[in-house]
Amino acid sequence: MQTINDIKDMQQRCLTARRQGKRISFVPTMGYLHAGHLSLLREGRKRGDLLVLSIFVNPAQFGAGEDFESYPRDLSRDAAMAESVGVDLLFAPEAKAMYPAGYATFVEVERLTETLCGASRPGHFRGVTTVVAKLFGIVQPDLALFGRKDFQQLAVIRRMTVDLNLPVEIVGMPIVREADGLAMSSRNTYLSPEERRQALSLIDSIRLACRMVRGGEGDAGRILAAIRERIGREPLARIDYLQVCHGSTLVDMETVTDDSVLLLAVRIGKTRLIDNHNLIEEV
Ligand code: PAJ
Repeated sequence: MQTINDIKDMQQRCLTARRQGKRISFVPTMGYLHAGHLSLLREGRKRGDLLVLSIFVNPAQFGAGEDFESYPRDLSRDAAMAESVGVDLLFAPEAKAMYPAGYATFVEVERLTETLCGASRPGHFRGVTTVVAKLFGIVQPDLALFGRKDFQQLAVIRRMTVDLNLPVEIVGMPIVREADGLAMSSRNTYLSPEERRQALSLIDSIRLACRMVRGGEGDAGRILAAIRERIGREPLARIDYLQVCHGSTLVDMETVTDDSVLLLAVRIGKTRLIDNHNLIEEV
């Protein structure tokens, strides 16, 4: 595995690989890797000839007062993990090289970004789509893998890729969870033991909703009310949003169907956690 910081160098290597007929798999991340990231990398390894991982804590997708400064970073630990799953190129650019003085171009997906995380984190998706578009320009992947953990992000990136005619196949991957059901996230490291316990209210809520649907409940309002009650029992938990949406349009749904997805964002103390699940399958 080689670690590359320079943008031009990275682009050149990827161009050369493509000219040699290699299929490039790409997994963009902000690092502090966990088993969720590794599942994307393993799938990318199977599907491509050259496996590229990027690690870049993207300042453009953090709002004022968010955790850009404190976001966990450990490049040498990440590099060892990346090597163990067969990454060929680890791209770790500097923020000042990605956004040099005079930088003025942003990619913005409308509508899909106006709800859920987009509503509570203004400008967040503009930062995500901008950096992903830039990374696609540098790496020129044949396919790029994203987790369904960030369900809205995946929908937004699919939309951007279609709308901008980018020749990249977007692959969505299942959520990887801890043994007790908590969705893996680099931000889980922020949780104290007590917060970690209360964070289980997210997966409990998903399980509760699935049980209600299995029992014949189809009214989203009643499901959400039951979840509000469940999360309300945790003193450190505050709901940011809680919605039943259509899985591809993200439009709010009042009645549960096979296309419904439950999406939730909950603050546990200072840490904002997200999770989601379709209401038809078991978790
Ligand atoms: P990051 O949070 O590091 O996540 C990188 C990728 O890993 C995303 O596609 C995310 O959905 C996926 N992922 C995270 N936790 C997961 C889990 N428990 N199971 C499966 N996949 C999981 O998402 C970002 O970085 C950034 O916004 C990025 C796309 C890199 C742009 O900066």
